[in-house]
Amino acid sequence: MKDQHVPVLLSESLDYLITEKAGYYFDGTLGFGGHSGEILNRIDNNGLLISTDVDKTAFNYCKKKFGSEGRIKLYNFNFSLIDVIVKLESIKFFNGVIADLGVSSYQLDNSSAGFSYSTDAPLDLRMDKNLKVNASDIVNTLEERKLANIIYKYGEEKNSRKIAKQIVEARKNKEIKSTGTLKELITEITPPRYQTKTLSRVFQALRIHVNNELEFLKQFLKNSIEVLKSGGRLVVISYHSLEDRIVKEIFKYGALSCVCPPDAPVCTCDKVQQLKILTKKPVLPLDEEIKKNKRARSAKLRVAERV
Ligand SMILES: C[S@@+](CC[C@H](N)C(=O)[O-])C[C@H]1O[C@@H](n2cnc3c(N)ncnc32)[C@H](O)[C@@H]1O
Repeated sequence: MKDQHVPVLLSESLDYLITEKAGYYFDGTLGFGGHSGEILNRIDNNGLLISTDVDKTAFNYCKKKFGSEGRIKLYNFNFSLIDVIVKLESIKFFNGVIADLGVSSYQLDNSSAGFSYSTDAPLDLRMDKNLKVNASDIVNTLEERKLANIIYKYGEEKNSRKIAKQIVEARKNKEIKSTGTLKELITEITPPRYQTKTLSRVFQALRIHVNNELEFLKQFLKNSIEVLKSGGRLVVISYHSLEDRIVKEIFKYGALSCVCPPDAPVCTCDKVQQLKILTKKPVLPLDEEIKKNKRARSAKLRVAERV
């Protein structure tokens, strides 16, 4: 298998990430090793990279790809466990932490990975196949109101109620087991010009819910701040507004030195500033990159530095 994912905002993200050639770095979303490979190109023989991915295929692929390279250690862990990984590695701090969120092109394009609605595949959507509940379980068992809420909250889809109703009606007759069946149910009640967007939103919503993506992202960001060295950088590439909002808010909170009400006579909050935001506005890919790689079009890069 060759690299099945083109890394996004590669030089922009690494220009921020690498502050010390002999530093210790953490890549929380290894994927096909695009960012990790470039980190290795930029650190020297005293540097170390620890990379992790929940997806076993990505992990196994990179084990082969980086085979004899001694400066990288690979984990098949959730990135939220960065605090556990530092302990396992007896590392105190990282000089830089990076996450390139979401799914890889391989996961999206490969029907056997179960993420795609363009080809018929089992309705799975788990990045980590050890998770007990998959997307099929959700659409076949969750009550209509909860299903609608997930589609609305994580897919920002206005027709969430109509879609949930259609799913619940259909499953009375037959279990919904494939991406193709779910796609058919959604397209049946969606005008043709909205179908692609609606499908993307519903599949995004189910994927976020099944993988508990937003909660893990929050834990990852909070834990990362604790294991960054002063001057170390936290670099995050996100692909939709829900992720980007979380990154923005956690960075903003981290950059505050006081959270007392504005009319408080003296500060009593004990809040300590932990971050300095380096990207007041997110860095976006250049048109040139988007032309070459469509997946880059929704990418946003945000960077904060540990104070
Ligand atoms: C956009 S891809 C990363 C691609 C990678 N930067 C490259 O250049 O090859 C995102 C990867 O993050 C992984 N992932 C998503 N959420 C994760 C989490 N909570 N913990 C660990 N890996 C995660 C996915 O399985 C996927 O392989």
